[in-house]
Amino acid sequence: MIISEIKSFLEEKRSIVERALDQYFPKGGKYGKRVLDASLYSLKAGGKRIRPILCLMGYELYKPNSEDILPFACGLECIHTYSLIHDDLPSMDDDDLRRGKPSCHKAFDEATAILAGDGLLTLAFELFTHQDLIKRVNPSAVIQAINKVAKAVGLKGMVGGQMADLLAEGKRGSLKKLHWIHKHKTVAFIEASLVSGAILASAPKDEINILSRFGNKLGLIFQIVDDLLDLLGDEKTLGKPIKSDLKRQKLTYPSILGIEETKRITKELTNEALTNLEPLGERAKLLKDLTLYLSERMN
Ligand code: IPE
Ligand code: IPE
Ligand code: MG
Ligand code: MG
Ligand code: MG
Repeated sequence: MIISEIKSFLEEKRSIVERALDQYFPKGGKYGKRVLDASLYSLKAGGKRIRPILCLMGYELYKPNSEDILPFACGLECIHTYSLIHDDLPSMDDDDLRRGKPSCHKAFDEATAILAGDGLLTLAFELFTHQDLIKRVNPSAVIQAINKVAKAVGLKGMVGGQMADLLAEGKRGSLKKLHWIHKHKTVAFIEASLVSGAILASAPKDEINILSRFGNKLGLIFQIVDDLLDLLGDEKTLGKPIKSDLKRQKLTYPSILGIEETKRITKELTNEALTNLEPLGERAKLLKDLTLYLSERMN
């Protein structure tokens, strides 16, 4: 893999997503403007934009014009940003730095941060049903994609995972429980981001299954690397506090298995993810490069 190639691909997609976020974010606000400011502050603070990019990549496997689904991709980033704002709250992980800036509740206040999260989650559904999308994409595919994402981030997805993550703090837990937590709090949404793009492009069912298996592996790699970076990363590069999991005695891969074994598992999962993509042949080149890139990321 040529690292610079995937890096410039991601850079190009990131700037397309950023422009669309600017375009679709609501303007005005009058007496409620503070919550719009707080939402925009967190949304625009930075971030890798991996979820919207995965959605565009899922779509581009089947159709060339991925600008058509930008409102949907932006909706995914709104949901992700809401989850980060709430994840950082004092009653949750209590982290003061996010995307290299004071967390939303620090830059504003707790009530505003809660509302900003609520607002971004709701904005996502406005974008998922935006005219710009509906007039270009088969509406029944849109409904299917929304259902896929809603399940991934709802009570039996990310929200449930976040609940279990908090309940596991300070306790000894099994690898089985940790796997459940990671699958729900992070993996399902990453898998749904990729798969929703393919659904929007009306991809064949057997290929959606391939992408789903791969997305599950990629999501797990992503969260395990996030766990590792809490111990091995650099606060400036990461844009969020390190040793936060340690402080809160979170159940993580390194906390159960140690750093070396966690790294070994990451490599094993990376190979499995690449194998999952084999049936797609050359078409999966970018997804393969992305997997290698994310498995070795430092931010
Ligand atoms: C952080 O997500 C939360 C996890 C699920 C690990 P990202 O690492 O994608 O955060 P940003 O969007 O780049 O800030
Ligand atoms: C958060 O996991 C997953 C979410 C649903 C937001 P973490 O708590 O590990 O994410 P970071 O490390 O704060 O970004
Ligand atoms: Mg958390
Ligand atoms: Mg956190
Ligand atoms: Mg983390």
